[in-house]
Amino acid sequence: MDGVTVVAGDASAGLAESLATGLGAPLIRAGLRTFPDGEGKITFGATPESGRAVVVQSLCPPVDSNLVQALLMIAKAREFSSDVTAVIPYMGYARQDREFLPGEAVAIQTIARLFRAVDASRLIVVDIHSKTALDHFGAGARNVTAIPELARHFEEMSLKDPLVVSPDAGGAARAEGFAGLCGHDFIALEKKRDKNTGSVSVSVPVPDIIQDRDVILVDDMISTGGSIAKAAELLRGRGCRRIFAACTHALLVGDARQRIMDAGVSEIVGTNTVPGPADVVDVSGAIIKGMAHC
Ligand code: R5P
Repeated sequence: MDGVTVVAGDASAGLAESLATGLGAPLIRAGLRTFPDGEGKITFGATPESGRAVVVQSLCPPVDSNLVQALLMIAKAREFSSDVTAVIPYMGYARQDREFLPGEAVAIQTIARLFRAVDASRLIVVDIHSKTALDHFGAGARNVTAIPELARHFEEMSLKDPLVVSPDAGGAARAEGFAGLCGHDFIALEKKRDKNTGSVSVSVPVPDIIQDRDVILVDDMISTGGSIAKAAELLRGRGCRRIFAACTHALLVGDARQRIMDAGVSEIVGTNTVPGPADVVDVSGAIIKGMAHC
């Protein structure tokens, strides 16, 4: 693509490289130096071509540091480019999209204001947690989905009578879409989360359907692994065969991976929106398609 430069943030080096290759665009790195007091300094490794810039930075952990870097990168790119696309593959804070308990700050609303303040021309996110969260960013924001890419990955696997399961009702449409693409059956578990402690409990509405089938648990993100682990324990207790976890954003905080494996999951398949041991599926193609529609 002529006149486009891709700028890779610290949190998204691999995905930015795939995007640059897919776009046929030069890639520059935004280097990060962290001062002893914890402040970060961003320095572009080269001057972007004047024209369009695509800044790529996920808000995965360390979330606040990566957020500040993303804002600094967009503002810096603006000095050279009349048109800056902010690609935030994993939009952190999207679960804080409303006031669940009195007194809580609606974090994503403020994050959206910050992105407007640094004057990104448009914003592209991948499988943002909710439509409510996306709406805070206004008309210039577009969500693209990695679900077809994840579904394709599972279609190439040899599974026995696969059943697609959403760990909660909130993710039902996403998992149902995944099931529809593969032609598999689908159910949604019923999950309750304690709004104060964050602990979850799950129940299954149709127990008989699970027996001796391979299960694909589909979610937008895995953070502590609590939701997937609880769901996996329940499904194993109901006699399913193998369990796979598919998600767009595999944050896998702390011992999440071990926790999920201990609950009986054979494999965690995530995407390169979050670098790490589960970034199996490349979403650059979906992002490039999404950019073409902006
Ligand atoms: C919740 O509604 C989300 O879709 C995920 O299920 C949840 O955020 C995952 O978090 P954790 O892995 O900590 O249970």
